[in-house]
Amino acid sequence: MPKDILTLGIESSCDETAAAVVKNGREVLSNIISSQIDIHKLYGGVVPEIASRKHIERINYVIEEALASAGVTLNDICAVCVTYGPGLVGALLAGVSTAKAMAYAAGIPLVGVHHIEGHIAANYIEHGTLEPPFLCLVVSGGHTHLVQVNGYNDFVVAGCTHDDAAGEAFDKVARALGLSYPGGPAIDRLARSGNPHAIEFPRAKVDGDKYGFSFSGLKSAVLNYLNGCEMKNIEADSADVAASFQQAVIDVLVNKATDAAIKSGGDCIAIAGGVAANSALRAALEDECNKNGIRLYCPSPVYCTDNAAMIAVQGYYNFIAGKRSGLDLNAVPNLKLGA
Ligand code: KG4
Ligand code: ZN
Repeated sequence: MPKDILTLGIESSCDETAAAVVKNGREVLSNIISSQIDIHKLYGGVVPEIASRKHIERINYVIEEALASAGVTLNDICAVCVTYGPGLVGALLAGVSTAKAMAYAAGIPLVGVHHIEGHIAANYIEHGTLEPPFLCLVVSGGHTHLVQVNGYNDFVVAGCTHDDAAGEAFDKVARALGLSYPGGPAIDRLARSGNPHAIEFPRAKVDGDKYGFSFSGLKSAVLNYLNGCEMKNIEADSADVAASFQQAVIDVLVNKATDAAIKSGGDCIAIAGGVAANSALRAALEDECNKNGIRLYCPSPVYCTDNAAMIAVQGYYNFIAGKRSGLDLNAVPNLKLGA
């Protein structure tokens, strides 16, 4: 019997301090997340310096808890896998320097992981049979990408956003509606009682880039609509605004993802990132995929938003492919996918 490979994942690229232990790249033994949302909520968004300071305070405890609840010690771990980009530089450095110290002290390999590759890998956790190739729609607070996943370490970007990320648009529109950070879940909830066809917001196309996205025009259209209502002394129906905005985002995401899958001859779409937790997006994609004979894979919401299990999973695939990072590993805030 070959020995099980346990990877420790560490994630600190934004406002979640997280650590997890994963067996053979698929089985989550522990997944500990210490969220800073309650702190950043007070400021309406993530304050980078506060995020770094909170990571430094919590990271050792989070790792200790991840090992303990998996029932293992550092001696059982085959590789320390850490997000080294993209993300907030100070936040990333907290995870990277901790991972380096642990790998060095324990004499085990260090494996740097791309945060977006981690989000994509979250799909392997609950879908034991899922293997590349597939198309992945990555929609998070900082990223909107359509990625052709040709192998566990082979990514080709088919399209990405030219301005705001989908999650960023959710957060900004939520703020304009007076909803608290993070805006995505708040809009998701409010939209359930609104009419998604009440207001016709734009579905942006990007000239010359079929699978490119643009959400800043949509965000401005919502802000203009709200300002217009205020000037006319009309009370905007927040639920209708939330539902109509959300529908505009969903229409673009669903159309481009299914079109890209069909054109590439693929029959499988996976979704990833915080916005992939959106209930209406999941329902709309499911509908469209059913109509087109495409299999859809969605991680549970806890594996859509930032977590370290996904980092331990992608770290495993990097590790078995022979990828190792040196002790000079640094944080790369704008790390490119497939570079
Ligand atoms: O993947 P993630 O946790 O962090 C990044 O890597 O950016 O994504 C966070 C983003 C935030 O913009 C948040 O508002 C959005 O995901 N989000 C959602 C939902 N849950 C989280 N957006 C729409 N609907 C949701 N249910
Ligand atoms: Zn993320």
